[in-house]
Amino acid sequence: MSNWSFDLRAQQRPMRARTGQAPTHMRGRLLARRLACQTWSTAATRMGGVPLLAGPAIVPGSFARLTQPVLELDDAVLRPWQASDAPDVVRAYAEPSIQQWHVRSMTEDEARAWIGSWPHRWAQEAAGGWAIADGSGLLGQISLRRLDLGNGLGEVSYWVLPPARGRRLATRAVRALSGWVFEQLQLHRVELTHSTANPASCRVAERAGYRLEGTKRREGLHADGWHDMHLHARLVDDPPQDAAAPARRADVPRGTSL
Ligand SMILES: CC(C)(COP(=O)(O)OP(=O)(O)OC[C@H]1O[C@@H](n2cnc3c(N)ncnc32)[C@H](O)[C@@H]1OP(=O)(O)O)[C@@H](O)C(=O)NCCC(=O)NCCS
Repeated sequence: MSNWSFDLRAQQRPMRARTGQAPTHMRGRLLARRLACQTWSTAATRMGGVPLLAGPAIVPGSFARLTQPVLELDDAVLRPWQASDAPDVVRAYAEPSIQQWHVRSMTEDEARAWIGSWPHRWAQEAAGGWAIADGSGLLGQISLRRLDLGNGLGEVSYWVLPPARGRRLATRAVRALSGWVFEQLQLHRVELTHSTANPASCRVAERAGYRLEGTKRREGLHADGWHDMHLHARLVDDPPQDAAAPARRADVPRGTSL
């Protein structure tokens, strides 16, 4: 079960739905909020001075105001990054299969800077990153690597360290994060892309309910050249998993929710 620390819908309830006069101690806060809403509506409905006719899908500020949640899987958690993760992050980005698809390596200083960048990216409503970990340490990562509140869109990305692979950790992490962004942030579409040469990632996408929508030709530049990329996406009202996928796999620990 996920540990969601904030109910955004309650925060987004329109003020006009509330009746009666606010207590004196709350009036300043309500006025500030009303002014913020007016500023939002002006900024969001004009682009380069030209009025937009739709949106924004999600009020600016909705993401930055959320506390980053810890999302629980049965045998691991998705939690915010910690400075002490830096040596494990260096090891992960030195791992050939992670380097191959994520196309980067890191020194320990760079890993510390990367970890330190996540709160800033959260505050900018640009992205959010989680470590996947258990009592033994780091198992993987998952991120909302792109966020577009105006259009209600996000994109997920992930890797899992080799010793933790094959127990549906990536699939379960994608499902858990998707549940949070759809229910708490109220995105309406989340995308996932991977090289067509990476069938394991394709499987994760399908199993987490991200339908294949097409192939973006020569879209990803990798160390060995251009790769065609599969575009998968899940909409807020899509089923959370591939109905055709078998319910269980023999090597998944007993008692683990799939
Ligand atoms: C892709 C990755 C995240 C999967 O992590 P994981 O926790 O082992 O994934 P899961 O156990 O949830 O599912 C993996 C699925 O891929 C399948 N798979 C694994 N290797 C495969 C291969 N070479 N060809 C086809 N399918 C493969 C597994 O059988 C499983 O499918 P199933 O559940 O139907 O049996 C992990 O392998 C990884 O980090 N790879 C390197 C980095 C990467 O590819 N990141 C994604 C970039 S888009």
